[in-house]
Amino acid sequence: MKRKPVKPLLRMLFSALNAAHLRSYETYQPVLVAGRRTGGTRSCEIRWEAIEKVLRASEANSLVDLGCSEGYYVVKAAQQGLSFCLGVDFDQRRIFTCYNQVVLNDLQNAGFLMSAVDRKLLEFMPAFDAVIFLSVLHHIMYQHGVEHCRSLLGLLAAKTNKVMFFEMGQSDEHKESWAKDMPDMGSDPHAWIEEFLLSSGFSRAEKITLASSYAGEVDRAVFAVYP
Ligand SMILES: C[S@@+](CC[C@H](N)C(=O)[O-])C[C@H]1O[C@@H](n2cnc3c(N)ncnc32)[C@H](O)[C@@H]1O
Repeated sequence: MKRKPVKPLLRMLFSALNAAHLRSYETYQPVLVAGRRTGGTRSCEIRWEAIEKVLRASEANSLVDLGCSEGYYVVKAAQQGLSFCLGVDFDQRRIFTCYNQVVLNDLQNAGFLMSAVDRKLLEFMPAFDAVIFLSVLHHIMYQHGVEHCRSLLGLLAAKTNKVMFFEMGQSDEHKESWAKDMPDMGSDPHAWIEEFLLSSGFSRAEKITLASSYAGEVDRAVFAVYP
């Protein structure tokens, strides 16, 4: 079937609308605009370099990014040729940015779902070869506690065919208002997180890179975790 593009005038108007939208809030990740990447406050490229190597080695074909923000990793995975790439986020502004990148860049094999990442979503979500779950779980942990998060990770282990990429905020990020409501991760938060992953249904965790936290106070560890 022939693919039909959006009319040029509408595309131009939509690009202008998208540019206004991108000026309306601070993007967490770089955004693909007219073939170039702009903005972003986190070190996304460093994390992608480490993730990409493991993705290639594991021959993953499907991927879900839970709490995908501006969809940077979904875009990168789709561009790398993964057949089915899905991003999930509950923030309407970010999902608008995600959809716009798909349309304005004619991205194939990438899609987005506006939804909370919660027990219901994880129960009904199909299994994926690769799961990306970066810097989201601490937001759930300081609201709902450690055991709730352990059970969510247990559900995720069952939905991960090959590998999950995991990173979370730490109790020693004292500049963050939420840090005092986190469990005390002791003097070695990365070891605490690894132990937490292994006690939640995953069999192996490897630290694949370090990336500076949002406030630049500590390095967060990115783990490749295996079911
Ligand atoms: C700190 S940012 C991390 C973004 C991205 N995962 C990364 O590391 O580059 C957290 C993102 O998760 C989303 N988020 C937080 N809690 C969520 C939840 N319970 N359900 C869905 N999205 C959530 C936020 O809207 C935001 O885009």
